Amino acid sequence: MPVDPRAVITAIRSVVGDAPNVPLHAPDIGALERQYVDECLESTFVSSVGAFVDRFEQEIAAFTGAARAVAVSNGTVALQIALSLAGVRPGDEVVVPALSFIATVNAVAHVGAHPVFVDSEPESLGMSPTAVADLLAGTQRKDDSVVNPVTGRRIAAIVPMHTLGHPMRIAELVAIADEYEIPVVEDAAESLGSFVGDRHTGTISRLGILSFNGNKIVTTGGGGMILTEDAEFGRRAKHLTTTAKLPHAWEFEHDEVGFNYRLPNLNAALGVAQVERLGEFLKDKRLVAERYAAAFSGLDGVEFLAEPPGTSSNYWLCAIRIDGGLRERDEILQAVNDDGLRCRPLWNLLNAQAPYREAPTGPLPVATALHASVICVPSSAALAAV
Ligand SMILES: Cc1ncc(COP(=O)(O)O)c(C=O)c1O
Repeated sequence: MPVDPRAVITAIRSVVGDAPNVPLHAPDIGALERQYVDECLESTFVSSVGAFVDRFEQEIAAFTGAARAVAVSNGTVALQIALSLAGVRPGDEVVVPALSFIATVNAVAHVGAHPVFVDSEPESLGMSPTAVADLLAGTQRKDDSVVNPVTGRRIAAIVPMHTLGHPMRIAELVAIADEYEIPVVEDAAESLGSFVGDRHTGTISRLGILSFNGNKIVTTGGGGMILTEDAEFGRRAKHLTTTAKLPHAWEFEHDEVGFNYRLPNLNAALGVAQVERLGEFLKDKRLVAERYAAAFSGLDGVEFLAEPPGTSSNYWLCAIRIDGGLRERDEILQAVNDDGLRCRPLWNLLNAQAPYREAPTGPLPVATALHASVICVPSSAALAAV
């Protein structure tokens, strides 16, 4: 029996109330944000240096447990720099989940490398460690490198992503990657506040990244962070993203081609206020998730996507999986959007996106099924107050 779109609307409305237009995810900007942004404006330090940048980095490092956090202008460039630090070079290959936002693979292309796409798992929506193990089992060792015999390219890194905030099986993946001595760079853009046991996502491998885009759980307007446990990576990340300038009171001396990827102090002021409220956001989003879980529990053909066992998700975006395929998904999307509920599907698979159609892929049955059956529902923290 196909799921009745009207029943889905009723379930969502029981959580979000009767507002005519309910966004998928709206930032929560309050008095503290205004206070810090005002302070920043008063100081006139609105650009690339200032106390809020340092404070933002320190607060994110303390919250995530990363030894070093380096603030940058967005999550995509954070990933680009993290891949460079991990040793990815032009012409290399990087293992990427086919089911992700396009920034994950764009960062690979920005360092001149090529993606190879692998499947996801139904429980976490994230990269399947088994699919990665299968891919790596078919590689060859040449000198110190692991080479994909299909393309002849060196596999230089693996980039898992914690989808919608739900942690993927990162420990299992790191164990497989370690066997082949391939670095893992965690795309934790969506998972600030998500943990595996007591370890924060993005810190379980040596390098990880966060995004503070306007739709994320904490926003700086636009922004990102490189997380690392390695002091040298931290130093290099700061140097590369701040034009590779050598410290000096007045001389402009740069020792390599650097990037202007700094997070402005003005954005960091917003970020410091948001991070101070992160505990509140996490509590509210969990409450919203619990209400959705209850609302959908009685609906045949609909499953609320709960955090994987042993993990704590930030429930950045709550989502349901429906029985049926693309046609049923799109009928529901049409009906809920007509009702003012800004629900969205997962992303079209990356191997089907124009720039990446020629890229090698493993079998993708799970990613294909998830793309056809998952719908993200309105998830703003403020919905807890409805
Ligand atoms: C999975 C994933 N990776 C990377 C990014 C890139 O972050 P940004 O938009 O800050 O560049 C995002 C979000 O936008 C994302 O969802």
